[in-house]
Amino acid sequence: MTTIAPTLDVIALLNEAKAFTPQLVAWRRHLHMHPEVAFHEHETSRFVRDVLSTIDGISVTRPTETSVMAVLRGGQPGPTIAVRADIDALPILEENDVGYRSQVDGAMHACGHDGHTAIVLALVTLFARHRDAMRGEVRFLFQHAEELAPGGADEMVKQGVMDGVDHVIGLHLWSTLPCGLIGLIAGPAMAAPDNFQCHIIGKGGHAAAPHEAVDPIAVGALVVTALQHIVSRALDPLDPVVISVTQFIAGSAYNVIPNTAYLAGTVRTFDAKLRTRVPELMERVIKGVTEAHGATYDFALERGYRPVVNDPVLTTRLEQIVTRTFGDETLFPLRPTMGGEDFSAYQQKAPGVFAFVGAGNVAEGVAFPHHHPRFQIDERSLDIGLRYLVAATFDLLS
Ligand code: NI
Repeated sequence: MTTIAPTLDVIALLNEAKAFTPQLVAWRRHLHMHPEVAFHEHETSRFVRDVLSTIDGISVTRPTETSVMAVLRGGQPGPTIAVRADIDALPILEENDVGYRSQVDGAMHACGHDGHTAIVLALVTLFARHRDAMRGEVRFLFQHAEELAPGGADEMVKQGVMDGVDHVIGLHLWSTLPCGLIGLIAGPAMAAPDNFQCHIIGKGGHAAAPHEAVDPIAVGALVVTALQHIVSRALDPLDPVVISVTQFIAGSAYNVIPNTAYLAGTVRTFDAKLRTRVPELMERVIKGVTEAHGATYDFALERGYRPVVNDPVLTTRLEQIVTRTFGDETLFPLRPTMGGEDFSAYQQKAPGVFAFVGAGNVAEGVAFPHHHPRFQIDERSLDIGLRYLVAATFDLLS
């Protein structure tokens, strides 16, 4: 047991955290009913600020228009720790039939950020009660726009929220991990998600005379197929890479060969060299296939977030905190995911670890993936997430 002041120890804090369960659920459900998509979190950030304004001993600022930062300066000297929660929802029509269903048509907290926000609100409330006995400084980052590149994290970093921070931690409720488990990954954990667009420029004509046209649909179909050969034939199978063509738009009539076809999709990599190499290979394939068929092309790649890479030393420390707090059986050696996260922006400034808190429950039908219209969480994960952050933050401050 770690003790930083006679009146404060982690066991007492963790016990105190347990009493937050009803409040966690209430905050989460309120946010769930009132979702706002990336860069539009006006009511959400106001709600966060209003809750924070009832807490004594913290300072609250707005780093950007729709984000909030609370700073707690402890009564004892110590390091500076940043804890991040993302607050935005997704442009999805909710299909869950629950009392706290989204009241905004076409917007839904389908990734669990409502839960992240509730957890970190509870964390501020709890720690602020013990300000005098606390060490160092904690910055609670309620970040906007995780779901839409270029993302909110970069904007907050530019506003200086990470200046002087020693460690940064964050978590994601994870519906594909059973509730009761916490997943930690040392090193590369989440991929860099880059997006591409490609126009195939052919020559339109009558569908009955394809020889007089250059069919961009036929060429585009070959491009889609050939792109998959990059991953399967040109790259080391031990290097994880995904190329997914997710849009193929062309044509407007059954008897007309169109002039152009539009392809778009996403590239996921971990390795910095591959992140540059894969688009080069893609362009080579697109160039070759289009040229071979008398078409031309236009290819553009837009870089998304950097990969989330967890600091190995800090990860080991947090693994020990998880087993000490919850028992050995709670720690789950999760595999990296090709999903992306702008938590990586904070990791450019200080060693950080992003944790995955199990929120799934197959027996109770809580089994849909993130970003699904029926995404749900087992709300017991809120309490686990809170206690994880209590134990982790407290330890990092000592
Ligand atoms: Ni998310």
